[in-house]
Amino acid sequence: DKVVLAYSGGLDTSVILKWLQLKGYDVVAYVADLGQLPDVDAIREKAMKSGAVDFYALDLKEEFVNDFVFEAVKFNAVYEGRYLLGTSLARPIIAKGMVEVAKKVGAKYLAHGATGKGNDQVRFELTAAALNPDLKTIVPWRMPEFFNVIKGRKEAMDFAKEHGIPVKATAEQPWSSDDNLLHISFEAGILEDPALRPPAEMFEYTTDPKKAPDEAEIIELKFEKGVAVKLNGKKYSPAELLKELNKIGGKHGIGRIDMVESRYVGMKSRGVYETPGGTILYAAHRDLEALTLDGATINLKETLMPRFATLVYNGYWYSPEMDCLRALLEESQKFVTGKVRLELYKGNITCIGRESKYSLYNKLVVSMEDDEGAYNQTDAVGFIKLHALPLKAHAARAKK
Ligand code: ARG
Ligand code: SIN
Repeated sequence: DKVVLAYSGGLDTSVILKWLQLKGYDVVAYVADLGQLPDVDAIREKAMKSGAVDFYALDLKEEFVNDFVFEAVKFNAVYEGRYLLGTSLARPIIAKGMVEVAKKVGAKYLAHGATGKGNDQVRFELTAAALNPDLKTIVPWRMPEFFNVIKGRKEAMDFAKEHGIPVKATAEQPWSSDDNLLHISFEAGILEDPALRPPAEMFEYTTDPKKAPDEAEIIELKFEKGVAVKLNGKKYSPAELLKELNKIGGKHGIGRIDMVESRYVGMKSRGVYETPGGTILYAAHRDLEALTLDGATINLKETLMPRFATLVYNGYWYSPEMDCLRALLEESQKFVTGKVRLELYKGNITCIGRESKYSLYNKLVVSMEDDEGAYNQTDAVGFIKLHALPLKAHAARAKK
């Protein structure tokens, strides 16, 4: 039987590949490029050496940023107040690619290297279930015959050596990371003590804000219907734009987060994230919505945002509930078009100017100067009187 394995080229998925082959499966190794792949050929070579019958690499960078990251930006989506969902957004598109490869090669099985303790297993498998309910999933880390043998790194190394899987001589980092165009995340290992600060050398996407340039940098982002299309007057594709923003944001130490979060499977986990470009996009988009959306719509979006973020985090990208939310999201962004100027300085982003042809801002109405009759201040008398009515009734009753 054929199985498509989500492969990374790392030790764990190489061991899993070999193990599946020894169990009698024909393993098709699959890797999705979301901006994290330095060398596809090296990964292909390693997959074949580890026993794969075939190898597929899909370049999903543009689709990832345009169809997933930019949707999250439109919703200003953050999980538990801080996490910009870099890994959560990546899983459904990786799984979608995996389902496509399965169809192409005629596989009935999918396999992945996520553990039974994490969110990723849920995201992979809920996506697969939604896109092709006939596929079955094999998850070695949840199978005693696997995890009772491959107990840790030492056993994995021994297994690799025994089966001719090339292993890097370099010492493994004391944490686990996951990277793509939106972010790099760090978890596990020494980070499992939430009281301990991560070492300075762990960070990869950003400069320490304290060591960032003493000169502030001003950038301008242009949005069309909630989507960033230009940086400093220059047009970019979605992936190229995010890449550029990562460079600029990284230089100024923007987008580091160190938090404890609630996994869908119930436990707390400590994660550290670097999301430089994404953090800039969020700040700019939010500022443009302030200018172009009415207050009630902003409030509606802010009320629904945690629902959206939780659906993304929990792995329900492909679900009826998500389809409803995204239809609403689309409608909300019709007029979110315009420019925002931001100043970046030592980890901070300050919006210093915004403009839009759809701006709801009316200078004459709001102005404290002569408003030429644009607004009648006596209208506010009745407005406040009626709103005060229930408060007065309540206060009077309290006196009884
Ligand atoms: N906790 C984050 C999430 O669930 C990131 C998990 C990334 N995995 C990792 N091995 N770093 O979305
Ligand atoms: C894993 O368990 O595979 C990584 C962590 C997570 O999915 O939350």
